[in-house]
Amino acid sequence: MKALLCTRYCTPDELELIDIADPAPGPGETVVRVRAAALNFFDNLIIAGKYQHKPPFPFSPAAEFAGEVESVGAGVTGFAPGDRVIGNIGWGAAREKVAVAADQLIVMPPGLDFDHAAGLTVTYGTTMHALRDRAQLKPGETLAVLGAAGGTGLAAVELGKLMGARVIACASSDDKIAFARQHGADDGVNYTATDLKDALRALTGGKGVNVVYDPIGGAQGEAALRGMDWGGRYLVIGFAAGDMPKLPLNLVLLRSYDVFGVYWGAWVQRNPQGHRANMMQILDWCAQGKLSAHVHAVYPLSDAPAALKAIAARQVMGKAILHP
Ligand SMILES: NC(=O)c1ccc[n+]([C@@H]2O[C@H](COP(=O)([O-])OP(=O)(O)OC[C@H]3O[C@@H](n4cnc5c(N)ncnc54)[C@H](OP(=O)(O)O)[C@@H]3O)[C@@H](O)[C@H]2O)c1
Repeated sequence: MKALLCTRYCTPDELELIDIADPAPGPGETVVRVRAAALNFFDNLIIAGKYQHKPPFPFSPAAEFAGEVESVGAGVTGFAPGDRVIGNIGWGAAREKVAVAADQLIVMPPGLDFDHAAGLTVTYGTTMHALRDRAQLKPGETLAVLGAAGGTGLAAVELGKLMGARVIACASSDDKIAFARQHGADDGVNYTATDLKDALRALTGGKGVNVVYDPIGGAQGEAALRGMDWGGRYLVIGFAAGDMPKLPLNLVLLRSYDVFGVYWGAWVQRNPQGHRANMMQILDWCAQGKLSAHVHAVYPLSDAPAALKAIAARQVMGKAILHP
C-alpha cells in the first residue's frame, strides 16, 4: 500500500510517498481502508519535531480518518468488514490502510460522506469539549471566536450558534469573516484592520463578550481577553500565531475572569465515555445538516505537501482532506 512517510524531521516537501506492506489486525484491532484522511494545523508541527507528540520514525501525518473496515482481529466484536467508520489516532492516517484498536472507532451515520466525516473529530470534538464541558456556554451569551474560518474556529462558530450564543467571528480578512457569516456568525471583526478589544466592546454596547474561544494566541489573544465583560471566560485552545500570550493577571482579578485550559486529547484519554457522547451528538448534528464539516479542498496523497503548506499559509477555511 501507499503511505506518506516522515522519515526524519522535515518540511512538507521532504515527506516521502512510499510502498509499504499492508497492515494485519492484531488482537482487538481492525484494519480500515482509509477513504479520506484529514489534516490539522499540528501536522506541520509534528513532521518538524515541534509538537508535544514525537512519534518514532517512520510515521505518517494525519490524525483522523474515515473509511471502511476491511478486516478484524481476534476478539473484536461490534465491527464487521464493510462498516463505515471514523477514527482519531493522533498521527498515521496518511496511508491507504491503518490498523486501529476497535474501541477507537465510531460508526458513521448514514447520509454522511467520507470527506466530511474524516475531519470532524479533532476540531468539533475539541470545540464541543471547550464550549460545553469547560466554558459551559449558555443561550443568549456572546461568544467571540478567533481564527473563525480555520478548522477549530469554524467548529466554534457553528457549535456556538447551535448552543444558542450570539457569535462574533474574528479573523484576518473580510473573506474569512464572510465565510464565517455564511456558517452562522452574527457579527464579524477583521483584526488586521480594527482594534479587536475596541471592536468587541463596540459590538456589545460597551460591556464586552462573555466567552472568548482562542486557537491563535499572540497579540490578538490578549486583545480579546481585554474585550471580555465582567466574569468573562477565556478558552485557551492553541497558539497558531506562534506566540503564547502572557495574560495580565491583574485583569483576571479585577474583572473576575476565568481562564480555561483546553487539552482535548488528554481529556479524551481520561474520559472516553464523555468523548464518545460528544462525538455521537456531533455526528448526529452533522448528519442532520446542522454542522457543515466544511471541506476546503481534497488533495490526492501525492499532493499532501501542498495541503500542509496551505494550512501554514493561513489559506485553508474548514478542513484540508487527503485521498489515499
Ligand atoms: N487544545 C486542544 O486540545 C487543541 C485541539 C485541536 C487544535 N488545537 C490547536 O488549535 C490551533 C488552531 O488549530 P486549527 O485546526 O483551527 O488550525 P487552522 O485550521 O490552521 O486555523 C488556524 C487559524 O489561526 C489563524 N492564524 C493566525 N496566525 C497564524 C499563523 N502564523 N499561521 C497559521 N494560522 C494562523 C488563521 O486565522 P486568521 O488568518 O483568520 O488569523 C488560521 O485560520 C492550533 O494551534 C492547534 O494545535 C488545540
